[in-house]
Amino acid sequence: MEEIRPAGIERSALVIFGATGDLNKRKLIPALYNLYSNRRLPEGLLIVGSARSFLKDEDFRRQMREAVEKFARGGIRDERAWAGFADLLHYAPANHREPDSYLRLKDALGRLENEHGTGGRRVLYLAIPPDQYAPVARQIAIAGLAGRQTAKECWTRLVIEKPFGTDLETARQLNRELHEFFDERQIYRIDHYLGKETVQNILVFRFGNAVFEPIWNRRYVDHVQITAAETVGVETRGGYYERAGALRDMFQNHLLQLVCMTAMEPPAVFGADSVRDEKAKVLHAIRPIDADAAVRAQYGPGAIDGKPVPGYRQEEGVDPNSTTETYAALKLWIDNWRWQGVPFYVRSGKRLAKRVTEIAIHFKKPPLSFFQACAAMDGLGSNVLVMRIQPDEGVSLTFEVKPPGPEVCVNSLSLDFDYEVAFGSAPPDAYETLLLDCLRGDSTLFTRQDWVELAWGLITPLLNEWHKTPSVGIPIYPAGSWGPSEADNSIEKDARHWRIL
Ligand code: BG6
Repeated sequence: MEEIRPAGIERSALVIFGATGDLNKRKLIPALYNLYSNRRLPEGLLIVGSARSFLKDEDFRRQMREAVEKFARGGIRDERAWAGFADLLHYAPANHREPDSYLRLKDALGRLENEHGTGGRRVLYLAIPPDQYAPVARQIAIAGLAGRQTAKECWTRLVIEKPFGTDLETARQLNRELHEFFDERQIYRIDHYLGKETVQNILVFRFGNAVFEPIWNRRYVDHVQITAAETVGVETRGGYYERAGALRDMFQNHLLQLVCMTAMEPPAVFGADSVRDEKAKVLHAIRPIDADAAVRAQYGPGAIDGKPVPGYRQEEGVDPNSTTETYAALKLWIDNWRWQGVPFYVRSGKRLAKRVTEIAIHFKKPPLSFFQACAAMDGLGSNVLVMRIQPDEGVSLTFEVKPPGPEVCVNSLSLDFDYEVAFGSAPPDAYETLLLDCLRGDSTLFTRQDWVELAWGLITPLLNEWHKTPSVGIPIYPAGSWGPSEADNSIEKDARHWRIL
């Protein structure tokens, strides 16, 4: 199969730690396979899986084939493509409790790198449980695999998954530990939301069009609503989620990233540092979160798509008296010239009525209505611009029109851009973008140290506050609903309503 080498990507090795785990099987290998079959994987990429088990290359390839069949879009459609991709896959075991195994990994990798002519360029991907990030990074470094960049053409990059710490102190500690062996510019912290096409489109939409930017501020915007609703529960991750909760799991990372993309100033240039500088400035400007305006809740039993589902406390791995929040709604204020006085309402929860992630910019209403024959001022809708992150990816703008008839009445309609209709296919998986970007050395879509610490700095006081007052009576919402009535009451105090989705 003829391969097309994407511009700017040198021959290199991708070493995946935790290669027999869930993340690699569900996300990384299917994304790499899709890239390969669409001829977008860089030429000569060497992929080395590593985990504790002893496996031969053939066994590893067999496991990865099952993963692709199960999790890749459309499975394996072309046996020749699979055969070509399987040739790139190799396996070398390592166990961070046995330092010698890292020396053996280094030898095995060295041999493969020589054969493939990858010139010592390596991406080391930690697809492992968070408590192993620091010990594995240490073993990598001790074995001499870390290699701080000595020459432009020979580099090592470390990719690290979320969660990055569990609060401000642990995130700082992890940063300190990684920086013992890696420079900041070698570290690629993943937030998979940033790899979503529709999240990248926020900046193109804002800064690629001249008509929106002049009204993207407190003079024209009444408020912003960001929703990340899921219908799934905690699935098999009860043990992890008990210690995380919605605030850590979704807000500290994905939702604050969406706030930043929506609120940031145009960067000086479209480069990793400029973009990330602007996002960090947004976090600097967010006022400490008011715990009294924050709502937490947990899902109880209910029904999704007509099928009964258990409550959170009945899920596997969950304490039957758990007070962990599976839903949260916050009101954020951004104290800068652009956003002063414009609230950002942000909500996310599991087992809600519908899977939908969107950003809705609610513009101010016209100052007066001439159309009183049909619509009182209250009835006149405001323009809402909605960026639909997923599913039904796209953008829509509601506006008021006169329906046909003798009277001058007002109706809301919308202009709509649908990603799939416009481009003929659903957007690629976020991991495809992120994997290519770290192979290319573009860290724009990865989280920088200052951002991760600022984000924890905002969330940690609220976590502490909630920890101090354990919510014995945490509100329970029925699975399949839109969350607790407390969240409705909280926004209604401001004479606003959550969007009906
Ligand atoms: C992950 C969270 O980071 O994001 C999960 O740990 C959540 O709990 C997931 O389900 C949501 O991602 P997506 O891409 O399905 O919106």
